[in-house]
Formats: sequence, structure tokens, C-alpha cells
Amino acid sequence: MEEIDLCSVNLRPFKLMDVDDFVLWAGDDRVTRNLRWKTITSKEEALTFIKDVCIPHPWRRSICYNDHSIGFVSIFPESGDDRYRAYSGYALAADYWGHGIATKAVEAAVSQVFEDLPEVVRLQAFVDIENKASQRVLEKVGFHQEGLLRKYSYIKGRLRDLYVYSFLATDVPANEP
Ligand SMILES: CC(C)(COP(=O)(O)OP(=O)(O)OC[C@H]1O[C@@H](n2cnc3c(N)ncnc32)[C@H](O)[C@@H]1OP(=O)(O)O)[C@@H](O)C(=O)NCCC(=O)NCCS
Repeated sequence: MEEIDLCSVNLRPFKLMDVDDFVLWAGDDRVTRNLRWKTITSKEEALTFIKDVCIPHPWRRSICYNDHSIGFVSIFPESGDDRYRAYSGYALAADYWGHGIATKAVEAAVSQVFEDLPEVVRLQAFVDIENKASQRVLEKVGFHQEGLLRKYSYIKGRLRDLYVYSFLATDVPANEP
């Protein structure tokens, strides 16, 4: 794998034209094993998913490297009296793991989302206790670990113990003068 230039990483909304890149990572069980998503198995399925799920999503961005989709970061706000709370999720193509890309992407999402979704005051994330890379990403971004939810979610055939993390709008660092 070539040297990764983090300046070439950015977030943008999904496009139908991402389909070929999307199928490469969303079709990989290593990437989807901690997600509720079913692993994508064809270009047609990928296109339907981008059209029906990614594009209409309230806040889902493609993580791009040189404008190629290599992952996603999502913030999904609750509604009604719970509209102040939103769930975050993310994943990255396995070839790109370990270069700080997810940390950069989640940091960028956190710094933008409170402007885009002004009612949201709390982001939360649930992470399998075995998913050390994801826990580290959240810690580097500044999320707080709040507790352990035992046998909380059934994902991909296993009942998972999950850590719950949060990041509040007031946790965003103030801009340097
Ligand atoms: C989790 C995921 C997004 C991380 O992406 P990434 O770009 O590799 O993350 P980063 O490089 O920004 O940071 C990873 C950190 O975890 C650390 N890490 C990785 N594997 C680890 C392990 N087994 N134990 C401890 N730390 C680990 C890395 O060293 C790095 O920390 P550092 O910068 O302090 O060295 C990626 O592995 C992924 O897509 N996994 C599958 C989907 C998923 O689990 N999504 C999250 C659902 S909650």
C-alpha cells in the first residue's frame, strides 16, 4: 500500500457514481462484521443501498481518498423528545486501516455535525468490547466512555457486550484565537 497522505482524505455526500468503490469495501466481511449492515454482494445491491439508504440518510458521508469512496461516517439523530441525541457509526476499507483515516473522518464529522443538526447536543456510539481499534478512534477524537452494556445487541449472530461512548456539543474544542 502506498504512503497515505491524510490531506487527500475528505468527507462528502454519497453519489451513485461511488458504486464501484462502495462494493469493494461494503462487500468485505471484515468491514461489516461489527455493523448491522448485511455485507453487499453485488453491484446492483450496492446501487440500491446508495440510492435508498446512503443518499436520503440525514447525515451520512462517504470517507474519500482522492475522491474515491473508501468508507463512511454517519450521524443519525433521534426524533421527538429524543431529537437531542444522535448515533454515530463508521467503517473503512480494510486496506486503509491503521493510518489515522477513521480518526480524521470522525473528527471532521464531529466538528461539522453540530452546525448541520443544531438540535443535537449528544453524539453516542456503541462499540463491541473486542473492537479495540474503534474504541481507540473514539478516545482519540475525545469521546467519553460512559459504561458497559452487557449482552446489549445481537449483531451478526452474536449477542455483544458494548461500551457506550458520548461526545457533547460542549466538548468541541474552542477555536484558537
Ligand atoms: C474501526 C476502524 C474504523 C478504525 O479505522 P482506522 O482508520 O484504522 O483507525 P485509525 O488509524 O484512525 O486509529 C486506529 C487506532 O486503533 C489502534 N488499534 C488498532 N488495532 C488495535 C488493537 N487490536 N488493539 C489496540 N489498539 C488497536 C491503532 O494503533 C490506532 O491507534 P493509535 O493511533 O493510537 O496507534 C476500522 O478498523 C474499521 O472500519 N473496522 C470495521 C468497522 C468497524 O468496526 N466500525 C466501527 C463500529 S463501532
